[in-house]
Amino acid sequence: MIFLGIESSCDDTAAAVVTGNRRILSSVVSSQTALHADFGGVVPEIAARAHAERLDLAVEQALAEAGLGLGALSGIAVTAGPGLIGGVMAGVMCAKGIAAGTGLPLVGVNHLAGHALTPRLTDGVDFPYLMLLVSGGHCQFLRVDGPDAFTRLGGTIDDAPGEAFDKLAKLLALPQPGGPHVEAEAAQGDPKRFPLPRPLLDRPGCDMSFSGLKTAALRQRDALIAEHGGLQAQDRRDLCAAFQSAVAEVLAEKSRRALAASPVPLLAVAGGVAANGLIRAALEQVAAEAGARFLAPPLRLCTDNGAMIAWAGIERFRLGHRDGMELAARPRWPLDGHAAPMLGHGKRGAKA
Ligand code: KG4
Ligand code: ZN
Repeated sequence: MIFLGIESSCDDTAAAVVTGNRRILSSVVSSQTALHADFGGVVPEIAARAHAERLDLAVEQALAEAGLGLGALSGIAVTAGPGLIGGVMAGVMCAKGIAAGTGLPLVGVNHLAGHALTPRLTDGVDFPYLMLLVSGGHCQFLRVDGPDAFTRLGGTIDDAPGEAFDKLAKLLALPQPGGPHVEAEAAQGDPKRFPLPRPLLDRPGCDMSFSGLKTAALRQRDALIAEHGGLQAQDRRDLCAAFQSAVAEVLAEKSRRALAASPVPLLAVAGGVAANGLIRAALEQVAAEAGARFLAPPLRLCTDNGAMIAWAGIERFRLGHRDGMELAARPRWPLDGHAAPMLGHGKRGAKA
């Protein structure tokens, strides 16, 4: 079994070739970061056009690096949502074109399922497990019981953590994407100098909120500027440290609750924010306390990529899922059909 996976739901154009026995034969990710840099966020129209221009090149490169032609494939998997609709449509059209031209089966994949099933691709883990998705666009706890069985235990009601890191970076005139820069500044900062809130920790459940944290940081910044006429380097470091430790504490406590509500042998994390050392360490400790294993797949498979889509396509294909030419691109597509709809819908697309 060999699948081509296509991903274009946000600002990465990606294609990959993956086998049924978990081998990644190629994984091409073409980032659009530079195209959106001047705008302080992903511009959906620019993203859609760039995907349309780059998708066939990414597919060609993925096949070339795998050393395979289209004839060697067993099927094509494509992200059919949730995400920025223009980009999702570009990917779905590309996949339909290849399927129509070759007669290969087409499998539409939920982007979040791609992230959520990644631990099975990288480490072959068994169900059930708990997945914390933390990126620039997503933030939710999913209990994963099968390739098609997800229960959402909670998530953000406003910004995703990565989005909050990016906004803080913008407030402090640090480059985008902000997460790594905030982490670097925080390394030399005092997390205790500025008391920032721990939003929603006082409420039961696993829902989270990060937009108030950013506003609190903004007020603190403005107070410092009003007092000293500007920000000192150490002020910036201390604000970054305070912000990072607040996010880590909220994610850790909510993970503790998620594991208590739904005890499973494994806590896995995916998304760009999983790169953060302090957050990773905090989650690792929570898992250990609950007697669960902690797993953070390699970062290139934690952030948006085509391999996770190819793999999720293989898992769905094995369950008998096939899509036809009527496969629709969906801006919103909750993984857990039973969960209440989410409130947040930020600049980076639907939080699903
Ligand atoms: O998974 P990802 O590449 O997908 C998108 O949502 O686009 O995540 C990117 C996000 C950005 O918001 C970035 O600031 C954040 O992950 N990020 C980090 C770190 N590295 C990346 N946040 C905190 N600490 C980091 N070291
Ligand atoms: Zn993603």
